[in-house]
Amino acid sequence: MHLRGPLRVATLGVGLLQGVRAQFGPPNSASNPLRIWTSAAATYFNDSYVIGNGRLGATIPGGIASDVIHVNEDSLWSGAKIDRVNPDANANMGQMQSLLQQARNPEAARLASFTYAGTPVSTRHYEPLGDLQLTMNHSSSGTGYERWLDLGESSSGVYYTVSGVTYIREYIASNPDNVIAIHITASKPGSVSFNVHLRKGQTLNRWEDYSYKVGSDTIVMGGESQGKSGIDFAAGARVVASGGRVYTLGDYVLCDNADEATIYFTAWTDIRQKDPVTAVTTDLSNIGGKSFANIKSDHVADYQTYFNRVSLNLGSSSSAQKALSTPKRLAAIGTTFDPELVVLYFNFGRYLFISSSRANTNPPNLQGIWDQEMDPQWGSKYTININLQMNYWPSLITNLADLTSPLFDLLNTMHSSGEKTAQSMYGIDTGFVAHHNTDQFGSRHCTPGQLWVLNLVAMRSGVACTPYI
Ligand SMILES: *[C@@H]1O[C@H](CO)[C@@H](O)[C@H](O)[C@H]1NC(C)=O
Ligand SMILES: *[C@@H]1O[C@H](CO)[C@@H](O)[C@H](O)[C@H]1NC(C)=O
Repeated sequence: MHLRGPLRVATLGVGLLQGVRAQFGPPNSASNPLRIWTSAAATYFNDSYVIGNGRLGATIPGGIASDVIHVNEDSLWSGAKIDRVNPDANANMGQMQSLLQQARNPEAARLASFTYAGTPVSTRHYEPLGDLQLTMNHSSSGTGYERWLDLGESSSGVYYTVSGVTYIREYIASNPDNVIAIHITASKPGSVSFNVHLRKGQTLNRWEDYSYKVGSDTIVMGGESQGKSGIDFAAGARVVASGGRVYTLGDYVLCDNADEATIYFTAWTDIRQKDPVTAVTTDLSNIGGKSFANIKSDHVADYQTYFNRVSLNLGSSSSAQKALSTPKRLAAIGTTFDPELVVLYFNFGRYLFISSSRANTNPPNLQGIWDQEMDPQWGSKYTININLQMNYWPSLITNLADLTSPLFDLLNTMHSSGEKTAQSMYGIDTGFVAHHNTDQFGSRHCTPGQLWVLNLVAMRSGVACTPYI
């Protein structure tokens, strides 16, 4: 149809008005094939949405009034470097080999259990950083709730209406700006009121050494990781708002009646910064000068240089399938194939990888930068018999070779002390040895845990060996 002038202008005018309203219209995540989404806040840690910039990670339940966001930093591990080489390994090697050759496997396993296990038996473990506790100053019952994780632009969000005001919160973890940012907007000016608090964790606050305000818009919390000579960590949050008032009370930042606000979060440990608190407060004070819109557009551009390298098409799902929330589609896929859900899952894998393996970060450990347990399963360390490798298997076929540098950095770290391990445990002067666990200190801790040999012995003889830990 050929539109004449005035009609064209009128159409454009309506479009602009819709554009303004559309910002607070329903997010309609169902129409975006790159969104994981649902219509309720997370009940458990394991149904929260995760974001990460390689170094910092956040796990977001997306509660309406109370949102307790778990935050991680990739270098927060227990204790300091330790040497775990069993001093009796080398002297008993010949005896173990000869027992195996005589098929006296249980005896070999018994000897190995004393002379082969690491001393101490475990590597260092990964630890959670803390919680960013966001409490909105409004009712906890809302309508029209939707929560999403957008794999196309690497952001998460929540949408709901309380007392006639519609709120949108967006969460991003930016690699270029090295910050986590939470942006809160409302459909009615002056409606954004909340407070922010940092803590180690509901049952973990005894591991927090300090928590205080800095100036009128920033808070800092920190302490030391477990074990002798632990790692110093500090986390901080700053609120920048337009309209309304931002102030501190105790170790909380409060924001009253703003039109919109951004919470900036960062954390450092003394693995990368001499003084984590100064690094945190300096970063937060510098970031305040950059708008959320600019941080987000730089973040999306950076993320998409990786994410947009691959697309996968397995055919179309039915419109009935596409209308369902992700948990419902997951429940249904057992009976009816849902091709676009499979593609979403494939993209989720790429998303997690891009979010947790970036230049100059640690490689993803077992739980990645999304851990809330002080004593996580298997220490959330690097199990190098399969799991670390699995995290990197798809990196080359998805054209992400440039994100594998953290793996090679870790291998380099492991190499020098692996030479010492080869020498002291096996009497071998050339080459290096790594057993099947390591931690971020790979170098001096190179994991003389129970070795493959021991497991092979146990498997062949049916004798249970100490579980590898
Ligand atoms: C998530 O965690 C809850 C609480 O620990 C547990 O009951 C549930 O089985 C978990 N779900 C999955 C899919 O692991
Ligand atoms: C915060 O909530 C309290 C209790 O409902 C209320 O009295 C107060 O006015 C609210 N403050 C703002 C700034 O909305």
